[in-house]
Amino acid sequence: MPKIAKFNRENPRVMKMTSISRITAAIALTGAGLLTTAAIAQPNTRLTDWPRIASPIKASPEQEARIRRIVASMTLAQKIGQMTQAEIKAATPEQAREFYLGSVLNGGGSWPAMHKGASAKEWAALADRYYQASMASDMKYPVPIIWGIDAVHGNNNVIGATLYPHNIGLGAAHDPVLVGKIAHATARAVRATGINWAFAPTLAIVQDERWGRSYEGFAADPLLVRAYAAAYVRGAQGRLGAADSVLATAKHFIGDGGTFQGKDQGENRSPLRTLINTHGQGYYGALGAGAQTVMVSYSSWNDVAAGNNQGKMHGDKLLITGALKQKMGFDGLVVSDWDAIEQVPGCTKSHCPQAINAGIDMIMVPIEWQAFIKNTIADVQSGTIPMARIDDAVSRIIRVKLRAGLFAGSPAKGALAGDDRAMVNRPLARAAVRESLVLLKNQHSLLPLARGQRVLVVGKSADSFSNQSGGWSRTWQGTENTNVDFTTGETLLTALKAKLGDAHVTYSADGSGVNLHDFDTVIAVIGEAPYAEYHGDITAPASLEHSARYPEDRAVLDAVSGKGVPVVTVFYSGRTTYANDLINRSDAFVAAWLPGSEAGGIADVLFRDARGRPVYDFRGRLPFGWLGDPCDERISLFPVGYGLSYGLGYAGPKKLGPLPEMHGISAEGGASCKRVAIQ
Ligand code: BGC
Ligand code: BGC
Repeated sequence: MPKIAKFNRENPRVMKMTSISRITAAIALTGAGLLTTAAIAQPNTRLTDWPRIASPIKASPEQEARIRRIVASMTLAQKIGQMTQAEIKAATPEQAREFYLGSVLNGGGSWPAMHKGASAKEWAALADRYYQASMASDMKYPVPIIWGIDAVHGNNNVIGATLYPHNIGLGAAHDPVLVGKIAHATARAVRATGINWAFAPTLAIVQDERWGRSYEGFAADPLLVRAYAAAYVRGAQGRLGAADSVLATAKHFIGDGGTFQGKDQGENRSPLRTLINTHGQGYYGALGAGAQTVMVSYSSWNDVAAGNNQGKMHGDKLLITGALKQKMGFDGLVVSDWDAIEQVPGCTKSHCPQAINAGIDMIMVPIEWQAFIKNTIADVQSGTIPMARIDDAVSRIIRVKLRAGLFAGSPAKGALAGDDRAMVNRPLARAAVRESLVLLKNQHSLLPLARGQRVLVVGKSADSFSNQSGGWSRTWQGTENTNVDFTTGETLLTALKAKLGDAHVTYSADGSGVNLHDFDTVIAVIGEAPYAEYHGDITAPASLEHSARYPEDRAVLDAVSGKGVPVVTVFYSGRTTYANDLINRSDAFVAAWLPGSEAGGIADVLFRDARGRPVYDFRGRLPFGWLGDPCDERISLFPVGYGLSYGLGYAGPKKLGPLPEMHGISAEGGASCKRVAIQ
């Protein structure tokens, strides 16, 4: 489809129409996987088994011979060491050498020497110490260590790194080319820290936004996720071994986004067909683009209809070995998630032959890695784990390391290593923010606003890098940060001042202490506070109503709305939510997701230029239905794909027809399921 590729590359705006064909075109463009676009047009019906995925990265006979030579020379302790991934807090470079550790990671909010302000140079220096130590081991052929990091929206643990919108915002942008650019910019940022393995992208097909990881998923549409997966992997890995390349991780295999009631680490109750046709799509994209690593999901699979309860993914040989390795043909490495082995029945944090026998090659045992090595050696000696399984695991690890260029030299000596500037790309992040915004309401064409106005800014999130960045930002939860922890970018308040001039912008977080009638427009910046993983779960039957969780947001709108001064609400969130009360209190309402460090992109779209013309339109379209009921996540106020633009005017909320009656499932604390009609 050369015509579509041309449209997209040369005139991205042409790609901005909402239609199935655009997504299909995107898949054709990114060449994701083996299936034809015709075969994936109906994701829920076509495949009856796992497809074989052709990777562009092929095994070579010379390399395979070299791998065999290395593996044949290794002792059991060396092999098990290779399969072990420890936290940098819990394993020194000296220990990495002594125990032949195959890998280290830093978890969210873990930095060299627990120094939160460590510069790229300090990160790269530590990475190089691990590398040099691994190469100084007494192995016959030393195998270099690899460091993995959660760079999930930019190199987000590191001070001074640009934070791109979280994946949900990229999903709204419907732009695989943009995603590829961000993946590449993130790879550069990771290489600046001397690291060449990123635990991204998350390919969850999120089904219930109660899930605290909803924002890590791109969209509800499996085909969009598939296109993005391919674009992301290409952008991140580029030419493997190059100074701006990192290994990507397709995660979390498989069905993490489909757990019952959106419970993190919960149970996916889909039939096999849904696993294959829906939750598998991201993997077809990622593997088809050459992803070298796959991380297993904390969740379980229980095929209720078939009466087949497979249990925890980390013990699931049928899916890890049978589906991923044998049927799909994946020849890279499978890594477990943080301490996830302990959830397999019969296992502990430091002992889980089941996981290795199921097909996991590298075990993330952040803290208890020494006991794990001891226990696993004993398992092999007793025959609980066959040596052939160990050799397969170690071969895969060495194969990936060879492909990633690790044997050729330290990634911490690459051209970008130690360069703080390589972690920053402000224009790209700002453009991504502009593209991600979804306009849900624009009464009387209030937006775009003219310059020269007196603007009152209210809301707790207007001057908060934390709230605009969400979880996985400097820390795991994105909490325990203040604005000084973010040294690049702008909050929306700063950006508005820069655009309109300080004198035109007044800020009152709760809307008090000001005379509303001194202003032409109010901009309210509100939304969720940061969270990650299960900390962000909304546990059923708790209400999905935003104001029930954040009453201060309704209070601030009550302070300013209905008083004759128009109110523009900018809403930060990691999910769509039930917010009818907030929408009704706003003349214009913008879903801005978790934009990251460059909120200036929001100011760009809200305001006209100095000559009064709108410069940037709203191009984002909903990646998930916008909730229309506080208790039933299946009811949408605005459907997937919805979003207004200046060019089209205010079309009004889409009529959904009669909605089912709700019977009060009341949540703890008395939140009710009463719906407020939208005005
Ligand atoms: C998360 C993964 C992450 C890992 C390492 C886990 O808790 O589920 O997504 O890559 O930690 O930080
Ligand atoms: C996260 C890590 C984090 C750790 C903190 C894990 O579940 O994935 O990134 O550092 O918890 O306890």
